[in-house]
Order: sequence, then C-alpha cells, then structure tokens
Amino acid sequence: MRLVIREDYDGVSEYIAQYIKHRIIEFNPTPEHPFVIGLPTGSSPIGVYKRLVQYYKNGELSFKNVISFNMDEYVSIPRDHPESYHSFMWNNLFKHIDILPENAHVLDGNAPDLEHECQKYEEKIAAVGGIELFLGGIGPDGHIAFNEPGSSLSSRTRIKTLAYETIIANSRFFGGDVNKVPKLALTVGVATVMDAREVIVLITGAHKALALAKCIEEGLNHMWTVSAIQLHPRGMIVCDEDATLELHVKTVRYFKSIEKVHELLI
Ligand code: GLP
Repeated sequence: MRLVIREDYDGVSEYIAQYIKHRIIEFNPTPEHPFVIGLPTGSSPIGVYKRLVQYYKNGELSFKNVISFNMDEYVSIPRDHPESYHSFMWNNLFKHIDILPENAHVLDGNAPDLEHECQKYEEKIAAVGGIELFLGGIGPDGHIAFNEPGSSLSSRTRIKTLAYETIIANSRFFGGDVNKVPKLALTVGVATVMDAREVIVLITGAHKALALAKCIEEGLNHMWTVSAIQLHPRGMIVCDEDATLELHVKTVRYFKSIEKVHELLI
C-alpha cells in the first residue's frame, strides 16, 4: 500500500485528479473497452471533481467511454433532494462532463425492492468487467462508503443502518438537524470496493487522523473498515498533513522517503 502525503486539501485534490486523468488517458477507453470507475460523495472529493471538470472543459479528458458506479445513496430521500447523492453527483460532476447519463450509476434509495436493487448493482458492475479504479473517502470513524464499524470485510452491496456518529457528521448537510438525516443507506460493500483492480482513498483533515492511524499502523480491523485496503494488491491512500497528526513521526518519514525514491525512479 502506498501513502502519499500532500501539504493540504488542494495538494491532495490535485494529486488525485492528475492521477485519475493519466489513468484514463493511458487506458485509452473505447465503447467496447470502457474505463470503469467507482466514485464517492462527501466534501472530500469536491476538489478532485472540480479539476476533472476543468480537464474536460480544457479538452484534456473525455468521459465518453467512462462508466461510473457511486458508492452509496441514502434510503428514502427523493432523488432530486439537494442532499441526495444522486443530486450531489449530478451537480458536482456529471452535468459538467460528457459522461453518458446511462453510464453514470447511482444506487436507487427509493427502489421498491431495495435488496433487489443492491443485487442488481453488483450484477451491473460484474457485467462491465468489474471496476478498474475505485476512489473512496472515509468518515471520521474509518468507514468506507457506508460500511460502518463492525461491517463485514467481505460485505457486498446492501442496506445499512447508519452509525450515530455518521448521522451527526452528516447533519451539517441537513441544516445541522440530526432528525433530518436519513437513518438508512444503500452502500457497496467493503469487498465490492476491494474487488476493484485499484483502490485510492482520500483522507483529509485532523478529524480523520485517528482513522488514518488505525488504518496504517494497526492491523486489519472491521471496526475501521478502511483498513481492508491493507490486503489490496494496488491500494493507495492520499492524505494531507493534518490527517497525519496521529501517526508516528517515523511512519510519516518512512512513507515520505518511499515517495522520494519512487519519484527518483520515475
Ligand atoms: C459519507 C459517505 C462516505 C464519505 C463520507 C465522508 O459518510 N457515505 O462515502 O466518504 O461521508 O464525507 P466527507 O468527505 O464529507 O468527510
């Protein structure tokens, strides 16, 4: 696993956006051989999305042959609610780029049969050959997508009850009112994310420092579901300096030195 440390949120966003751009261009996607990407919501990826939109507008990157699958969606809020993950993705990314609407998948939290919706989602991912690159964010409790502490590390797309900590964290999007935050969500599982051929996790801010330390310095642990990235053959965490606050100084130095050597090699 690689840990890439950048000064701040902008540095992290720039690194990941450039990385994704190069991966898509290098892949050279076609309608028969699309680039399949997994995407998160939340405040963390907004800087990445802004840059991807800019690359598209500059004519540097096209999403015509990109298929996306979002990580999660709340249950029972209208699709066009400003805080639905569907709205978030359209407003922050999809409507600004040339992705085909039928290729931009977001779970339907209003489907009549939610279990069937989850199963269908897994089938759709499999039908396009699996996910090439999954970009994820985490909650302060180390959850990836909505795989709250205690989730099975072999979980697949399913319905989840949100942890109270997550409801509090996400209440900022609902006028600070915890009662307005949906209590259920549909989410890809930890195994759905880890099945991707490459996984990148974006972690910024001091409030996520403990989760980063648990993930990097301690073992695989279902109470910090992002730690599953330890088993991934091609996993990378990109974080800012604030998120390293709970890491040992020697851990930070170690990963920075690895990056220096890596840069020398390329
Ligand atoms: C929610 C989402 C996660 C996301 C997390 C972090 O809980 N389900 O997928 O990673 O928020 O949000 P933020 O980036 O706003 O900290």
